[in-house]
Amino acid sequence: MEKKGERLTYSFIRELAASYSTPLYIYDLETVQRQIDKIRSKMHPSIKLFYSMKANPNPTLVQRIYQTGVNIELCSLLELAAAQTAGVAAERMMYLGPGKSAEEIRTIMDQGVRYFVAESLQELELIEQIAQEKRKTVPIGVRINPEVAVRGARLQMGGKARQFGIDEGQFPDVLRKLQVLPHLRLCGIHTYHGTRILSANTIAENIRYILSFAERIIEMYGVKLNFVGIGGGFGIPYFAGEKELDLDELGQASYGTVEQFLQKQPETEILMESGRYLVAEAGAYVAQVRYTKRSQGVHFAVTDGGTHHHAAAGGSGNAFRKNFPIVAYVPEQRAEQEYELAGPLCTPNDLIGKKVRLPELHPGDYIAVLKSGAYGLTASPALFLSHRLPREVLLERGKVTLIRDVDEYIIPKLRKESNTD
Ligand SMILES: Cc1ncc(COP(=O)(O)O)c(C=O)c1O
Repeated sequence: MEKKGERLTYSFIRELAASYSTPLYIYDLETVQRQIDKIRSKMHPSIKLFYSMKANPNPTLVQRIYQTGVNIELCSLLELAAAQTAGVAAERMMYLGPGKSAEEIRTIMDQGVRYFVAESLQELELIEQIAQEKRKTVPIGVRINPEVAVRGARLQMGGKARQFGIDEGQFPDVLRKLQVLPHLRLCGIHTYHGTRILSANTIAENIRYILSFAERIIEMYGVKLNFVGIGGGFGIPYFAGEKELDLDELGQASYGTVEQFLQKQPETEILMESGRYLVAEAGAYVAQVRYTKRSQGVHFAVTDGGTHHHAAAGGSGNAFRKNFPIVAYVPEQRAEQEYELAGPLCTPNDLIGKKVRLPELHPGDYIAVLKSGAYGLTASPALFLSHRLPREVLLERGKVTLIRDVDEYIIPKLRKESNTD
């Protein structure tokens, strides 16, 4: 979606709402493609880009992204199943996660996921045990928790005490451990410093840091690395005062580092992952105003959408609650006023916008929360109050495709009492 939602006109929204009802997630494939192209054209061409499914696991969207040549990073068996539904080859998958079960490990091996990343010494032991049962030698990557934290990441995954990966300083322990795990072969390292980074320099520094760490361990220990995951964390500006990540600057600041590394290590692949940057700008969450009211002088618009579908718009994941960009679709020019945009839940926190200046709203009008393609439905407490899931539609080449129906909803069936005899 264009930044201010220009592509979503009032009549188009009304048409979509008439066909698919609200609340509704709309994703624009052209915007996704634009974001992919930006990374591809600015970063070193040898970098292998992965889409992080956690940002938006809708299989149709994943399929379209995959078809552009982007690889897929995943973290759960259902993400794996969705990726397989989308036709993603195991050769082009990376599987991460600090708490993998034995079932996950077996499946990763059985499916032949190419980039398999372990996150603890005990996980390595479990992988060994399963590899031994299967009489397989398993190429394994290890996630490293770097010693240095990034400046400017809204959410830090490394550089401090974290449940992710193995501390950089414990790398010798990894090598010692692997000596007694004969079914494992170290084939790569992976890092993820943090996310929502808007400073090109910070990301470039992360890349420098991990590539120099990789060089150090290659030289010191003679390890052979088929891949080095340099993370990503590319942010997009959501809130007032945030500036777009400068990809020209990032490309320039990191090109030489990557090039020099590859000159010395031509056999090593450099992997980078991104979820939010690829899909956030492409999505809008559209809701219809059901009621308007005043409470103690404050204007409320109660809509059919809420934080059960879009927790991030309600402030989840941000230390300080800030509004996503929100627009209203009304049939005529009206004076503006300030609104609390509420949803149908029984909590005062069910507000997808606070003090939002919008044209006067009437029942039947629409609002859209923009920049909602990432960590929308997938990062929301959708089961809270058991409202139905919203539909999702994809705009591509001027066409609209329904990619999640309202009834594609996981509610367990009612069971009879167990027979305890
Ligand atoms: C290991 C890892 N990779 C990738 C991502 C995706 O981050 P983003 O959507 O900000 O690109 C995350 C986000 O938490 C992550 O933890």
